[in-house]
Amino acid sequence: MQGNWKMTKVLGMLMLVNFLIYMLVAVSRNYSKNNHKHRKVISKGFWKKQEVMTPIWNYEQQRLDDVYFLPVANGNESFRDFLRIPHWLNMSHMSSCQRDDKVMTQIRNFSLLPQRFKDFLLYRDCRSFPLITDAPSVCSKPPFLLLAIKSIAPHFDRRQAIRESWGRAGLLDDHRIATVFLLGDTTATDHFPDLSNMVKHEAVLHGDVLQWDYRDSFFNLTLKEVLFLEWFATNCSSAQYVFKGDDDVFVNTHHILEYLRNLTETSSQDLFIGDVISNAGPHRDKKLKYYIPESVFVGDYPPYAGGGGYLYSGNLGMRLRTISRLVTLYPIDDVYTGMSLRRLGLAPQKHTGFKTFGIEEKYKDNVCAYKNLMLVHPRSPQEMIKIWLGINDPKTHCE
Ligand SMILES: *[C@@H]1O[C@H](CO)[C@@H](O)[C@H](O)[C@H]1NC(C)=O
Ligand SMILES: *[C@@H]1O[C@H](CO)[C@@H](O)[C@H](O)[C@H]1NC(C)=O
Ligand SMILES: *[C@@H]1O[C@H](CO)[C@@H](O)[C@H](O)[C@H]1NC(C)=O
Ligand SMILES: *[C@@H]1O[C@H](CO)[C@@H](O)[C@H](O)[C@H]1NC(C)=O
Ligand SMILES: *[C@@H]1O[C@H](CO)[C@@H](O)[C@H](O)[C@H]1NC(C)=O
Ligand SMILES: *[C@@H]1O[C@H](CO)[C@@H](O)[C@H](O)[C@H]1NC(C)=O
Repeated sequence: MQGNWKMTKVLGMLMLVNFLIYMLVAVSRNYSKNNHKHRKVISKGFWKKQEVMTPIWNYEQQRLDDVYFLPVANGNESFRDFLRIPHWLNMSHMSSCQRDDKVMTQIRNFSLLPQRFKDFLLYRDCRSFPLITDAPSVCSKPPFLLLAIKSIAPHFDRRQAIRESWGRAGLLDDHRIATVFLLGDTTATDHFPDLSNMVKHEAVLHGDVLQWDYRDSFFNLTLKEVLFLEWFATNCSSAQYVFKGDDDVFVNTHHILEYLRNLTETSSQDLFIGDVISNAGPHRDKKLKYYIPESVFVGDYPPYAGGGGYLYSGNLGMRLRTISRLVTLYPIDDVYTGMSLRRLGLAPQKHTGFKTFGIEEKYKDNVCAYKNLMLVHPRSPQEMIKIWLGINDPKTHCE
């Protein structure tokens, strides 16, 4: 009896140990699975050392991450405190724009890359370009909401429609709105007609055009982003909130203001909302607009908000400006902003009111469909004005 009981005890113990090991393995498996899938909340210690890889973006960013992010993110110093001190960074290496011919031999098969990649890679260290037209008084009265609209020179009608509708500068619902249009230079190299005098005229007329002297192209939208952040930090940091978006969207500014009024002091500091894309990565199909070769980037994209339009706090805008100096330019601007946010230990939040992929066709002409939305893409200049008149019409009654 005694012996039997002992045997049972031993067997029981063994089974228990087995079970515990099984649980441990299952839990740790699950943990690592989740770790890969869910990247929404990234907190302190998120920065893992990775193997040095050959793709040029990964290689260059790795060096920056090792120096600036690894020690802080894994140490006991507060990441945020560290970022409050900007003087540790010497910007002077970024101010001179040199063509980097070394890249032609650093990247395998450089000569076979599409031309836009060659252009991007040769000038990827250039971040500083002179302003051709400034908008010096846009923020002379601190705006509650700054609207920063990506546009290109020929889109005069889009800019004018925005001024006459959802982007009108001045007071709206007792809040100050300021608007700037972000332009580069549309050059003869790209067979654009010379519109420089017309843009100059427009800038004088409205005072809301920021134009920098660089080639306005799709892959240079990231340059537009960092140039805007620098301008924001030095010329408009009093803005409480920033909306940045394209010139072919309709924005329900009333609804954005209502949303912002509802925020509490603490929830507003880290605000970054939009149409968030998670679990994405680079496209490898050469025919796509978003194609990225393996020699440039390998890995997953962090969560990012679609570039059609997103909303963030001025406080976060200042931090984005600082961190962006430590993030290698990436040819897709909204992905780049996601990469920068990630290095601030943040992730953008999805808000269902940002319809960057449009709304159902049957609601398109129904004014009430726009009442509770933040943004719809795409909309023509005439549609912008029509919808804006509709939602402001006191005779419009919606459920
Ligand atoms: C944390 O920082 C303090 C002060 O800098 C230092 O004395 C301490 O050794 C650090 N602890 C660890 C675990 O690194
Ligand atoms: C910043 O860089 C410039 C040029 O490389 C150098 O002359 C200067 O001493 C540097 N300043 C600091 C504070 O490191
Ligand atoms: C370079 O291009 C050639 C011709 O397309 C191809 O055969 C080769 O595999 C490429 N090399 C690399 C390292 O990708
Ligand atoms: C970006 O702008 C710079 C300066 O104008 C230019 O040299 C470069 O070719 C542009 N890059 C792309 C990808 O268009
Ligand atoms: C804008 O910023 C620049 C530096 O980038 C500064 O020289 C200029 O005085 C600023 N203008 C205003 C109106 O704040
Ligand atoms: C703001 O708060 C009110 C009251 O809680 C709520 O009814 C409304 O839907 C909120 N508006 C937005 C845009 O979130």
